[in-house]
Amino acid sequence: MQRHLLRRLFSSSSPFAPQKRARSGLAAVSEAVESAAVLPNMPPFGYSPPPYDGPRAAEILRKRSEFLSPSMFYLYKKPLNIVDGKMQYLYDEDGRRYLDAFGGIATVCCGHCHPEVIEAIINQTKRLQHSTILYLNNAIADFAEALAGKMPGDLKVVFFTNSGTEANELAMMIARLYTGCHDIISLRNAYHGNAAGTMGATAQCNWKFNVVQSGVHHALNPDQYRGVFGSDGEKYAKDVEEIINYGTSGNVAGFISEAIQGVGGILELAPGYLPAVYKTIKKAGGLCIADEVQAGFARTGSHFWGFEAHGVVPDIVTMAKGIGNGIPIGAVVTTPEIAQVLTRRSYFNTFGGNPVCTAGAHAVLKVIEKEKLQENALIVGSYLKNRLGALQEKHEIIGDVRGRGLMLGVEFVTDRQQKTPAKAEIVHVMEQMKDMGVLVGKGGFHGNVFRITPPLCFTKEDADFLTDVMDIALSKL
Ligand SMILES: Cc1ncc(COP(=O)(O)O)c(C=O)c1O
Repeated sequence: MQRHLLRRLFSSSSPFAPQKRARSGLAAVSEAVESAAVLPNMPPFGYSPPPYDGPRAAEILRKRSEFLSPSMFYLYKKPLNIVDGKMQYLYDEDGRRYLDAFGGIATVCCGHCHPEVIEAIINQTKRLQHSTILYLNNAIADFAEALAGKMPGDLKVVFFTNSGTEANELAMMIARLYTGCHDIISLRNAYHGNAAGTMGATAQCNWKFNVVQSGVHHALNPDQYRGVFGSDGEKYAKDVEEIINYGTSGNVAGFISEAIQGVGGILELAPGYLPAVYKTIKKAGGLCIADEVQAGFARTGSHFWGFEAHGVVPDIVTMAKGIGNGIPIGAVVTTPEIAQVLTRRSYFNTFGGNPVCTAGAHAVLKVIEKEKLQENALIVGSYLKNRLGALQEKHEIIGDVRGRGLMLGVEFVTDRQQKTPAKAEIVHVMEQMKDMGVLVGKGGFHGNVFRITPPLCFTKEDADFLTDVMDIALSKL
């Protein structure tokens, strides 16, 4: 066996190292050597996780199948048992390192390790963890002030929640109470959460249907790749006008959308769409809700919030995920005038924005600023997008590369003219990339889009590794 290949295989830059419990047998080694012959180097990283002695993947899978929701799904045929994480890397039960290019929309790292965030959480936990309501606490007020400071216009009042779903439910309820109307307009292919109201506003997949809610209308998606009007946002916006004129009494409670649809397959709304729709909604007396659960917190690089790239100011902004880098927290930010509607109701959230979560999330915000992660998202994201664009020129199967900053999508089609979704091929490429040490997400209406949303500490070397690995996987198709 060639020595240099073996050396490379188990070097610290190979995803096959360090193996705490090496996959036994000649078969595994020869299979690995075969891959190593073409395997690009994962950027070196000076960290080895502590040994893992816990239950193995098969046992966890068995328990999960027996005791957890049958609706849970896995990304891979053989689900990974991830036991450690550091910055943009994850480690499985054998100590094998993976580049996490999906990350659950974590901001500062994969969601587990930034020393300043950990310290803030530990200090606050040692001192006090309690409910958000009832008493004064500086952690909650300080973070609300800092968050309001990141907002444009009069968006100054913060309601904390435990998740993105709760944030969107609250935003839609506020819009209904404020306007006295029930009708909400959302986009086809949108995802806004997993409770009744938000699942009504969701119209995401063709393989599962949303939960039907009365008074929810789904407007034409201003999808620049597949949409009938290409990149002409104003033409798509007419559909919202028509819904209001013919589908409602002429008034609406609100309109909710992301600036870049995340679960929907990294679809950036066509330029001109949001300004036109916001104008129409305001004219009909409704409120405009920006769901920043994925695009917010510097991810798009060019702006801190996704909606800013469209030159609009919403009435309500919702957020989660990146706000806490993995801590369960979400928020709704609105104007003092709109916020008043809840004073006429008994509204509170017991743990939404509790002291520990707000202390942690405040630390996340400080790290984003201190480490200039927005700038990094712009620089590394643009670099990665260019490299993915070059892959598109080489591989016919890549129909579209899109997105902004570190929120990028790669759409796979078997026929560029027909835009036929390459559903089976994408699954195969994803498995191959995982085997070579790169984890990406998958989504879109047809499930044929790679979602690349790594933690914002992602580097150019990581971007190179990801594209080299994708190139190899595609070349093998
Ligand atoms: C855009 C968007 N809004 C809302 C949600 C719901 O957030 P959560 O899962 O925290 O309830 C998600 C989750 O994926 C999302 O992507």
